Amino acid sequence: MAEKAILKRIKELREKLLDADYKYYVLAQPDITDLEYDMYMNELLELEKQYPELVTTDSPSQRVGGQITNEFPSVVHEVPMLSLSNSYDENDLLEFDKRIKNLLKGEKYRYVCELKFDGAAVSLLYEKGELIQGATRGDGFRGDKITTNLKTIRSIPLKLDIKSIFNTLDIEVRGEVFIKKDDFIKINERQETEGDKLYANARNTCAGTLKLKDSSIVASRNLNMFCYNLRHRNPDEQKKLKSHFENLNILKKLKFPVNDKFTLKTSIEDVIKFCGEVDEYRESLPYEIDGVVVKVDSLEQQEKIGSIAKSPRWAIAYKFRAKQAETRLYKITLQVGRVGTITPVAELDPIFLAGSTISRATLHNADEIKRKDIREGDYVIIEKGGDVIPKVVEVLKNRRPKPVHPEFKMPDSCPVCNSLLVRPEGEANYFCINFLCPAQVQARIEHFVARNAMDIEGLGYSIIERFIKDGYLKDITDIYGLPKHEKELKVLERFGEKSIDNIFKGIERSKERPFEKVLFAIGIRHVGDRTARILARHFRNIDNLCNVSREEIEHVHEIGPKIAESVYEFFGKKNNRILLDRLKKAGLQFEVTGEEPKANKFTGLTFVLTGTLEKYKRDDAKKIIEDFGGTVSASVSKKTDFVLAGSEAGSKLVKASKLGVKIISEQEFEEMIKV
Ligand code: IVH
Repeated sequence: MAEKAILKRIKELREKLLDADYKYYVLAQPDITDLEYDMYMNELLELEKQYPELVTTDSPSQRVGGQITNEFPSVVHEVPMLSLSNSYDENDLLEFDKRIKNLLKGEKYRYVCELKFDGAAVSLLYEKGELIQGATRGDGFRGDKITTNLKTIRSIPLKLDIKSIFNTLDIEVRGEVFIKKDDFIKINERQETEGDKLYANARNTCAGTLKLKDSSIVASRNLNMFCYNLRHRNPDEQKKLKSHFENLNILKKLKFPVNDKFTLKTSIEDVIKFCGEVDEYRESLPYEIDGVVVKVDSLEQQEKIGSIAKSPRWAIAYKFRAKQAETRLYKITLQVGRVGTITPVAELDPIFLAGSTISRATLHNADEIKRKDIREGDYVIIEKGGDVIPKVVEVLKNRRPKPVHPEFKMPDSCPVCNSLLVRPEGEANYFCINFLCPAQVQARIEHFVARNAMDIEGLGYSIIERFIKDGYLKDITDIYGLPKHEKELKVLERFGEKSIDNIFKGIERSKERPFEKVLFAIGIRHVGDRTARILARHFRNIDNLCNVSREEIEHVHEIGPKIAESVYEFFGKKNNRILLDRLKKAGLQFEVTGEEPKANKFTGLTFVLTGTLEKYKRDDAKKIIEDFGGTVSASVSKKTDFVLAGSEAGSKLVKASKLGVKIISEQEFEEMIKV
């Protein structure tokens, strides 16, 4: 084919495919068969393979996936992604309405009601109509750039083609990505046939899928999206937007997937009625929702009403009550955690509740079992709220079978290794204090290799279990000795050469993981990934951390006495020092790489940034402070040393003055950083 003809055909195929995506995934009115779709896609892929220079970022071929992303860079949201405050009943909604009425001082207002989808919030940035970035919500200020993965969602337009509404199509669209109920079942069926662990619920699977490195797996999961927010990135164009209800209609015109249940209501009574109606039919929807979102319609009024802390005052989520079910608890078993915590678990007759089958529920600790008087054989009410782990709410005493089972009693010894259990003073939990208990070793290794820790792919639950059993793994340091056993491992039954090679690659790659991840991975009690980051950035290397006093740790912003105690104790133990030494020898990162603080002016000082700064972007100011050895924190507390306040600073300023924290202006800050 001549060059021109090829280009024409490629264009034609792309249009056909994008149009088919829209008709199928947004309108649910397909007009071509799957076979035709596949034929067009194959032809396009073939042509793009032959002429790679003709591949564009908005080609539907991008939806197939195949690209591998090793690291998702973090991006700052142009406007923070807030969350919603919750309400649970009619009274909460009436209160909300009262507040709105007061704040709007007699003005008329209307509400838009939408469904509250249960998935993961994302942001899509378009420049001149082209999708240039997709990101997760993250902590609301910063998310992960996951553009490649989002492009696999077929209802997300890759290119916008209606210009009549705005002069330019530089917009940000936000919405919820989710997995439909039947797709979730399919994913789990696949997991089962491949012998992999089943996923607990659709929401977490969705969030996890968005962060997968291999975009073709993302594509295969059939993610969906509903968009619920539009913002023009150009302030003049944004001014043209007046109403949220209209915005949703504009989004529809721009061919975004917008859920069609949204509606305009003129009174809170009508809103309450709508919430009741949705609660009635929500089970029959093909996707999970956990409530209704109520938003003031006028954007001008939204602005007037404003936001507090992390949520807007002009919107509220009406959350449905947690779903409950009745089932039989046939046994109480004990689970041993990575620091030896013994958690009693309720083994239940499997029951389908709110989208998933439940066969276990946490019972927290022995006191909790006593308080609720839970016995084996009891019929119980279980509940699944917004959280993943279901809990036992109540025992149906009148259905207690006879003869009555004796009260639950915590055994004297560990169910796995038989060593004596202890309950430290003031603790609700019992502990197995045998550091070498196989259950603890297993849990510690699982934690160490997890994605947000050392990220060693391939070293899954059953492989770890097997390696422990066969004596290859006794603690986390043994992971780095595994390659020595290459020959033996490769002939182990059930594990192919390829999977072992994969693990070795993962082990090698993990040596590049930054210090903060290592610090998290070694599993110090009470040190989550955020705390590990704070400690790593503050102390910069392991030797500093090992030689620091309890008080010095506690002085670090956001570190409380409980964490300080635990960290201090961890580094004080000889065994742990030996373990760290071995990991050091294995080549892991034990110091913060990158720039050293330029000067130590700000060492030990904590700053909070608030309002809009004139000269610096927030991130730049943050970097300057960190370069000088200081720390930046999100919230004001007694430990804050300075609040750097720009224009329109809000609640943080109020809190700072209440606590007597020094507030500095941008000019004062500039003075401070003059070297
Ligand atoms: S509006 C400031 N609308 O709920 C407004 N959120 O806690 C924030 N969500 O993070 C979002 N359905 O993930 C909005 N129709 C809807 C929603 C919705 C689900 C989620 C979203 C957000 C969380 C708010």
